[in-house]
Parts: sequence; C-alpha cells; structure tokens
Amino acid sequence: MSDIQPKRLVVFGATGNLGQQLIEKLAESNWPIFELIGVASSDSAGSEFEFRGEMLDVTSEWPTLKGRDFVFICTPRSEALEVVREALRAEVPCIDCSGALADQDVRMPAPISMSQSTTDGDAEAAIKTAPLLGVPAGTTLAWATVLEALSVSRVVGTVLCSSSALGQKGVAALSGESIALFNQSDVPEAGPAGQFVAFDVVPGGGIDSDRVRGELQRLFGSGLSVDLASVQVPTFVGEGSSLSLTLSAPLAREAVEARLAAIDGVTLMQDGFGSRGLASVDEAVEAPIGPTLRDAIGVDEILIGRIEADASQPVGEGWRLWLAYDPIRLTSEQVLNLARRRLGLP
Ligand SMILES: NC(=O)c1ccc[n+]([C@@H]2O[C@H](COP(=O)([O-])OP(=O)(O)OC[C@H]3O[C@@H](n4cnc5c(N)ncnc54)[C@H](OP(=O)(O)O)[C@@H]3O)[C@@H](O)[C@H]2O)c1
Repeated sequence: MSDIQPKRLVVFGATGNLGQQLIEKLAESNWPIFELIGVASSDSAGSEFEFRGEMLDVTSEWPTLKGRDFVFICTPRSEALEVVREALRAEVPCIDCSGALADQDVRMPAPISMSQSTTDGDAEAAIKTAPLLGVPAGTTLAWATVLEALSVSRVVGTVLCSSSALGQKGVAALSGESIALFNQSDVPEAGPAGQFVAFDVVPGGGIDSDRVRGELQRLFGSGLSVDLASVQVPTFVGEGSSLSLTLSAPLAREAVEARLAAIDGVTLMQDGFGSRGLASVDEAVEAPIGPTLRDAIGVDEILIGRIEADASQPVGEGWRLWLAYDPIRLTSEQVLNLARRRLGLP
C-alpha cells in the first residue's frame, strides 16, 4: 500500500458505542492513515481516545472538513443531518450510520454478506463516486443475509433489543436503574427509552422497526413480504431475532442448513448449549440450546440456531430460525468495507 496517499479521516460520534468500535477496527486495519480526528458533543470535551498506540484528543469543535478524505457519521440522527450537509458542502465523501436519510434516495449498498454486494458492477462503480453513502440498520444487515441465502418470500419476526440499541445513555440507564433497585435506593430518571427498563421488557422499544421494514423492502423489492415487532429486553449489549420464514420453494432441513453454513459471516450453532454452556438444572428437562446474546458479543458473525420446521406451513416451506448478533460489530464491518471501496483502498 506504499504508493497510496495516507488518508485524513474524521469520525463524528467518536466516544459512542459505534464510533469507538469503528476506531478500533480502523486501528487494526492496514489502512495508511495520516490523521484521525474524533468529534463528539461538548459533554466529552477534554476526553481522549487511543489510536494505534497514541492518545488523541476528542474535539467538540467541528474541524474544517475541506481537504479531508472521508467522514464517518456515528452520531444520533438529530445531529447527523448537519454533518452530512457540511461534508457535502466541503465535497468530502461521507457515510451516514444513523439512518437519518434512510427514507431518501441515498446510495445504500447491499450488506457485504449478500452476494449482490459484489456482483453488481454498476453499483460498484457508483460507490466509487458517491458523495454520500448510507448503511442499513444492524437488524437489516443480519436479516438480509439470511433472507437472500434461503430465497424467502415472506418473513415475520420479533427483534429482542438490548439497551445499547439506544446508545451509551441507554446502557447507563439500565445500569443505574439496576443498581438502584438492588440497593433499594432512589431510581434515577428514566433514560432514552422514556421509561424504566431494568427487570422489564418494553414492547415496541429498541430499534426503529419501520426503518428495518423499509430497508428490507428496498433490498428485496416486492418479492418479499415483511413484518416485524421490536421489544427492548433488560440486557446491555447484543440483539436477537426470532424469524418465521416462508421460502419461495420448499427446502429440506439439510439444504436449509447447508445454505446458511455456506454464508461468509454466519456460524451455525445448532447443537450444544451455546458457548456459555447453558445446561438445564433439571436433568429430565431438555437443556436450552444457544446461541444467546452474550455468545454474540464481540463476534463479527451472525450466530444462527434453533432451525425448526413451522408446523403451520406446508412441509419444507415454513421455517423458524433464531439469530444472535452484535449490531454494532455488523455495522462497523459494513461501514469499513464501504469506506475502503469508496477510497479505493485494496
Ligand atoms: N447501537 C447500535 O447498535 C447501532 C448500530 C448501528 C447504527 N447505530 C447508529 O449509530 C449512531 C450512534 O449510535 P451509538 O450506539 O454509538 O450511540 P451513542 O453511544 O449514544 O454515541 C453517540 C455519539 O454521538 C456523539 N454526539 C452527540 N451529539 C453530537 C454532536 N452535536 N456533535 C458531535 N458528536 C455528537 C456523542 O458524543 P458524547 O459522548 O459527547 O455525547 C457520541 O460520541 C446512531 O445514529 C445509531 O442509530 C447504532
């Protein structure tokens, strides 16, 4: 890579869950990086972050974008639009991770684990010149991978979201409320969920279901019927989805497993108890089988288990699956892959 000009990069939201994960991945990459500027809100003024062995300042003053090579936008939606405008004005390519423009005509390349992400030459050429790229929600990335591999005509699912779906403030709220309840002290004010989340499940909480539905519809077109519900559960990180699928053509169990196992970025965990060794307390009761959300933390892959025939549908056409994944890791992989293609890095 020695003949490639070292890059000047800006990460907005550098102190957040996604921003930190992205910076970690950039540090591990072999990209030639001359400069990395981390931007956050004024709440983070004076803080630092580590990058390739150096401590760098987080700035709350927006840097001049003109002359930089790429801008990563990992802020909440409300702040992202202004950053997009600024990047477009400065003619610096950027990627929006917030979904602020999900319903607009923004180039949103297919998830990297889908075959269409690399086989469409026109789309690849468009990425190379796009001023603004979008990335689907972590849930969309996980679901799309499975739907394409099994050629699904209808999917109905429930997403179990952890408090990290609402960013660091969501995680802090669950932590603060849990500690207060254990200590029988005053419970702090409700966090970004708008209500208390500790030891409770919040139907409709967590991710933006309309966004996921719209993105899947955009990726698959009218050939796919899709509906989903989201529930926030009192875990800190990770996400799980329980899917009920109707396939376009019936498949035997072996074929379903073989197609899923062949996807890059997917691990089947059909047997065993998940990596944490979940076991039933009562030997007479069937042991629970993973993967669990904790199994998926810190893993770049989508873990799939509990592949079961849906008895309400014709044999071979209806299947139920359980997915566990880390949406922040899936998103940062997709973002880095797109930025690499946009910047023409090998
Ligand atoms: N969490 C997920 O699973 C996930 C997955 C995919 C995409 N996303 C999207 O990625 C974005 C970030 O999510 P997250 O979970 O990382 O949230 P987060 O932990 O709450 O982080 C938000 C970041 O944005 C910064 N920020 C807030 N206002 C700002 C401003 N005016 N100027 C510059 N920086 C500002 C925050 O700085 P301070 O620390 O100073 O407040 C923080 O660094 C969201 O749009 C989210 O929808 C999240």
